[in-house]
Amino acid sequence: MQSNEIREKFLEFFEKRGHKRVPSSSLVPENDSSVLFTTAGMQQFKPYYLGKRDAIKDFGSLNTVSVQKCVRTSDIEEVGDERHLTFFEMLGNFSFGGYWKKEAIQYAYDFITKEVGLKIDYVTVFEGETGVPADTESEDIWKAIDPNLVVKKFGRADNFWGPTGEEGPCGPTTEIYVDGIEIWNIVFNEFYHNSDKSLKSLDIKGVDTGMGLERLALVSCFPGQVGKKTIFDTDLFTFADNPQTKEERIIADHMRAAVHMIGDGVVPSNTERGYVLRRLIRRALAIGKEERKIARISGNLTKDEKILEILQRESFKFSETLEAGLKQFEKGVVDPFMLFTTYGFPIELTDEIAREKGITIDHKKFDEDFKKHQEVSKAGMEQKFKGGLAGHSEMEVKYHTATHLLHQALREVLGEDVFQKGSNITPERLRFDFSFPRKMTDEEKKKVEDLVNEKIKEALPVSYEDIPMEEAKGKGAIGLFEEKYGSKVRVYKIADFSLEFCGGPHVENTSILGKFRITKEEATSTGVRRIKAVLE
Ligand code: ALA
Repeated sequence: MQSNEIREKFLEFFEKRGHKRVPSSSLVPENDSSVLFTTAGMQQFKPYYLGKRDAIKDFGSLNTVSVQKCVRTSDIEEVGDERHLTFFEMLGNFSFGGYWKKEAIQYAYDFITKEVGLKIDYVTVFEGETGVPADTESEDIWKAIDPNLVVKKFGRADNFWGPTGEEGPCGPTTEIYVDGIEIWNIVFNEFYHNSDKSLKSLDIKGVDTGMGLERLALVSCFPGQVGKKTIFDTDLFTFADNPQTKEERIIADHMRAAVHMIGDGVVPSNTERGYVLRRLIRRALAIGKEERKIARISGNLTKDEKILEILQRESFKFSETLEAGLKQFEKGVVDPFMLFTTYGFPIELTDEIAREKGITIDHKKFDEDFKKHQEVSKAGMEQKFKGGLAGHSEMEVKYHTATHLLHQALREVLGEDVFQKGSNITPERLRFDFSFPRKMTDEEKKKVEDLVNEKIKEALPVSYEDIPMEEAKGKGAIGLFEEKYGSKVRVYKIADFSLEFCGGPHVENTSILGKFRITKEEATSTGVRRIKAVLE
């Protein structure tokens, strides 16, 4: 079966059985700071298991069904084998006090054997451990459905799931295996796992299930052929020509994850989510060694120009230093901190390459160097912010604000494909580099000038807000935003005209800028134009 058919079959099967179809939530979890990414279908439903929200009110049902995009980096070392991924889709049915074990197991059995027509290899149930009783109920239910079914029993390490992060719902599981691989995990959320690791019984008994779309596609497309065929042979990986080697699989997986992350508003940076994204892109590049190949794969994955632009920018930045960085390894000793600061190699990547080459890394030294580096750059940033206007001449501050007006005006006149590529300000002029495929016409230049001057005349107030990156992106803020000075970012607003990431400083009102004039418009490289302009 093709993956689209599987998704629809699954959703319909459960819809027919009283489940409300709910769209996948974002990979960036909302109102849940316990994890960086959405790692399971149940995550968006956590409040319903805990009785904090009312499913009947929100969904008209106590049961839901979804196909959830997920990112898990815990298996990153395994990616490249036949069945591990960092990005995958999870088919799941959920109940928040609606039905319980008997129905959940019967649904799963019917779906796998009747709807998809597969033979179950064996199932597993929880054998009991550390004060949590064995799940004999599930075992009995399986046996009643099919007395010949092999039921294996395991402890907490295998047949107990959750919570995501430090605390949350969790419970014993029963798992279905087809052709030797785990297909479906059915969790009975009976407990709440406190952050001190203690368990308490939940008032609402919940069902939470997760089946890997990629794995189901494998066993349903190639029944009995696991071992010969892999998830990478399914239609889900045609974008990367169904990769066969470990390297190609890693690249396919990482780019697939990266495209979805960026699609959900994550941008490459040196902290948290942005850092995970950066690592994936840089690892793919280091392994693939070809920017063009990576660009082609991403182009097959998405037509969204904004996503491709962010990927391209990140790839370009790294590919410039990649080769020089890789050369360092040939010497037999590497300084991971230097590789990080000078060549942009994430420590994990350095580790991986070093391991391959049999080089040992001094982690302690790296940690110390890194800490020192952070203190120094933090002090530098604080200085810069504290300095505020004092650090800049009055003219430079004016040019700063004029640059924002120019950037927005360019987007309005030339279209939304205009992205900032660089900016440089002196007391005499501003210089602004941006993506655009051709020379601007005189008419376009005039339009941009007129628009900027109009906004100056309108005497617009300039203000700023410090808000989380994702919120800023959600509001459509533009500009270069890779550098993240902590968890929040500053966005400058010029009335309703412009919203842009920036550390400042800026004038308080556009009225004092004077008259704006473009003095030069030229190419700097393919697809990049440069404007010089003055305030008179
Ligand atoms: N939440 C369960 C899992 O992710 C179904 O495996």
